[in-house]
Amino acid sequence: MATDLEHELADLLEVASFPPPQAFAKTAQITDGSVHEAAERDPEGWWLEQATGLLDWYEEPTQSLDDSNPPFYKWFADGTLNASFNCLDRHVEAGRGDRVALHWHGEEGEQRAVTYADLLGDVQRFANALKDRGIGRGDVVGIFLPMIPEVVVAMLACARVGAMHNVVFGGFSAESVRERMEFSDAKALVTVDGARRKGKTAPIKASVDAAGIDVETTFVVRHTGIDTPMGDGDVWFDEALAAADAQCAPERLDAEHPLFILYSSGSTAKPKGILHTTGGYLTQVAWTHRYVFDLRPEEDVYWCSADVGWITGHSYIVYGPLLNGATSVMYEGAPDYPDKDVWWDLCERYGVTIFYTAPTAIRACMKWGPEYPGRHDLSKLRLLGTVGEPINPKAWLWYYLVIGGKRCPIVDTWWQTETGGIMVTTLPGAQATKPGAAGTPLPGIAAQVVDEQGEPVPPDTQGLLTLTRPWPGMLRTLYRDDDRFVSTYWEKFGPRTYFVGDAARQDEDGYLWVIGRVDDVLNVSGHRMSTAEIESAIVSHPKVAEAAVIGQADEDTGQSVAAFVTLEGAFEGTDELVVELREHVALRIGKLARPKRIIWSDDLPKTRSGKIMRRLLRDIAEGRELGDVTTLRDPDVMAQLQGRVQELQAEE
Ligand code: WT7
Repeated sequence: MATDLEHELADLLEVASFPPPQAFAKTAQITDGSVHEAAERDPEGWWLEQATGLLDWYEEPTQSLDDSNPPFYKWFADGTLNASFNCLDRHVEAGRGDRVALHWHGEEGEQRAVTYADLLGDVQRFANALKDRGIGRGDVVGIFLPMIPEVVVAMLACARVGAMHNVVFGGFSAESVRERMEFSDAKALVTVDGARRKGKTAPIKASVDAAGIDVETTFVVRHTGIDTPMGDGDVWFDEALAAADAQCAPERLDAEHPLFILYSSGSTAKPKGILHTTGGYLTQVAWTHRYVFDLRPEEDVYWCSADVGWITGHSYIVYGPLLNGATSVMYEGAPDYPDKDVWWDLCERYGVTIFYTAPTAIRACMKWGPEYPGRHDLSKLRLLGTVGEPINPKAWLWYYLVIGGKRCPIVDTWWQTETGGIMVTTLPGAQATKPGAAGTPLPGIAAQVVDEQGEPVPPDTQGLLTLTRPWPGMLRTLYRDDDRFVSTYWEKFGPRTYFVGDAARQDEDGYLWVIGRVDDVLNVSGHRMSTAEIESAIVSHPKVAEAAVIGQADEDTGQSVAAFVTLEGAFEGTDELVVELREHVALRIGKLARPKRIIWSDDLPKTRSGKIMRRLLRDIAEGRELGDVTTLRDPDVMAQLQGRVQELQAEE
């Protein structure tokens, strides 16, 4: 028998568009189209106004966009500022030092309220600790930390001295950390003794040592107390703070001074070092955090459930909220530990008013059932957001109904590591939301859906998403790889049209419906991965001859990793080898990249020139009729693979 909730969901599925809830719109900061219009009349002038209005500058910029050398754009280039000053000092100087910046909640229920003044104190000391070791402007500092306040301290200390942070998501393997430290020539690494996950502790510093990471200094945060080897060049983070001077004046940096590198997967095995700079990035994240989330810093309690190791964490856990003087929740643990209601427990406990998460998390909560949120008072929530992948209307409606109690608008925010900040969404007090559509380009942003030749396609027609005007938060290059920057984003449609890599369609109202990636990039639970990177990890196993990885549609995670693997002659595909290969991928890249399915194949479908036809593998994995097979060298391969997949499905 269908429950009331199911009936209500079914009814709402008929509703195509939800106007801003009245009570919300009454107090919202933006309630009509005037901001979009003002920005459209003079985008560069408008962005300059936002830059000077939202940030404190040592020298205010008079220039907005410099597009004299496309695609190497600059923003606000004659201004100087410091990111950590803007996130901390100016709030403390204005008497807001006692405001809680982070309500940190540990996995075992520990609580720490970290104020703006606390952060400023620690950031100055750690900045001095960096300087004492010769780290300053233009140097790279790696950060490999769990969700603890020290990650914010480390990032802002880098910004204070003009060093770039290079944060690696805690779910990646030490091997990935090593690679990213090497690619970026990092001088120091900030890591932790151990990390906790669902009641267990994993040694982190020891694993980093085992990977042989070659940096001059490794700072180690004492977190779990796990036995930790310390060698030459290793320093306890707390001891470094205690020994350092308490005052550290922020460096006055050019707007285009690099702020950070963040590695992200592309279509080859080598991750891309996406480089963001200071003035433009901060302007866009400050604006979007304030107006997309309709933030009122004095009253709201904001929580973004992402990990700080992804761009979502950089922009909407660290920089956006702190620039705006917001109070946030930071949670160390998993969404189902100690129990599946922990998120809602935290929302109630801290009075969360704005909550930002990923569709995959919503689908997991849906599966667990409404009784978990039902245990808690969620009435303080007034706005919900999603990011990372398209959201299916059913999950959207569940979020709207069960979590938001029909009071809260949902902002579905489309953007990328490369864009720095949110690009496409709805302004919650001004625009209706449509379940499944991200929305329209934000003020100052321009997008177009085009065909392969770059010609705009008619409304409601699928094409390639492009961004047709530079924006302040855009990546400036790929670290030490300008050529790849140009060829990845600016060659297909020229140096003035950014190639996104997503397919989309735009409806009659201008709303963008993002369909998914068009390149060999996977999106598993909103995490970006490259097929080539996973293939190269699998092939590095001594028993493997060849592998092809595809993303397969998955109910829970959006996509999941499926690997077609050909073994070296003498070996047989056993269950033990499946376990071994998954473990191998976890060690090389991280657990998140482990294939969900491994399909043994004597051969792979290839064109006559030897190119693997992943399109056909996707058809097989998803049980579809095969597409065009005329270019296939050996059509018999397909029948064998289809048989294997059917056997696997029968076992599952
Ligand atoms: C890719 C970017 C932005 C931070 C998280 C992911 C997909 C992102 C949405 C959305 C549909 C989305 C796109 C994009 N994506 N947000 N709201 N609706 N798709 O950052 O790892 O750089 O991945 O995520 O495919 O290109 P990322």
